[in-house]
Amino acid sequence: MTLQPHSLIELPADLDRDRLPRHVAVIMDGNGRWAKQRNLPRVMGHQRGVETLKNLLRCCKDWGIEALTAYAFSTENWGRPLPEVDFLMTLFERVLRQELAEMVAEGVQIHFVGDLAGLPKSLQAEIERAMAATANNQKIKFVVATNYGGRREIIHACRSIAAQVKAGLIDPADIDEVLFERHLYTGGLPDPDLLIRTSGEMRVSNFLLWQVAYSEIYVTKTLWPDFDRAAFHEALRDYQQRQRRFGRV
Ligand code: IPE
Ligand code: IPE
Ligand code: MG
Repeated sequence: MTLQPHSLIELPADLDRDRLPRHVAVIMDGNGRWAKQRNLPRVMGHQRGVETLKNLLRCCKDWGIEALTAYAFSTENWGRPLPEVDFLMTLFERVLRQELAEMVAEGVQIHFVGDLAGLPKSLQAEIERAMAATANNQKIKFVVATNYGGRREIIHACRSIAAQVKAGLIDPADIDEVLFERHLYTGGLPDPDLLIRTSGEMRVSNFLLWQVAYSEIYVTKTLWPDFDRAAFHEALRDYQQRQRRFGRV
């Protein structure tokens, strides 16, 4: 684990506390490239990436950010070689088991979003345990997108609304943005104010398609395992220079 400079433990003086994003979402990309640069197997990049995420979560909590959502595994990532997929599933399970006590102690409320029924049963059990154990925590919401696809999420919401219409509980004319949002996996969470993607790719890769409608996007060439507090500080500084207009003038 990399030690952070002491000056970055508290909110840096050049950031405006009143203009922090409430919700930060991250596409944690570049683990494989990080490992390749070091002649290591790709999975070592994933292993290191977990440390980066732990540090970022702590940083968000220290700096007073309400919610952090991290893209851990997409519905498309099943197309990777089986050993890598297996490694990731085992890693998620192990990390959850190892970190749960600390998350409880630190006031982290953990959520998982995605098609969770498609995950290994043993991982589903850890997920349920972690969500239940942290449900009343208040310091920060930590959302992990696993077997997540924005399109699948939208289809899921449509099906769930259609079922309510069929059951006569709602009328098609009742379907509006507020109702639709409630049927998304992220229902109840504010939309991300800031979407960060590491490792330079300029795409959203099926992440939070509905929710990022007005998010500020920040792309850095830094590879995920190297994305430390200083890099996050830079992203927030950039964010605070943006003018959010939401279609107005
Ligand atoms: C992101 O890093 C982690 C996951 C998608 C699970 P990658 O594994 O995509 O790393 P690169 O993009 O190949 O470098
Ligand atoms: C996006 O990264 C998915 C996650 C970070 C979990 P990918 O590496 O899978 O995305 P592409 O393939 O570059 O679009
Ligand atoms: Mg990638």
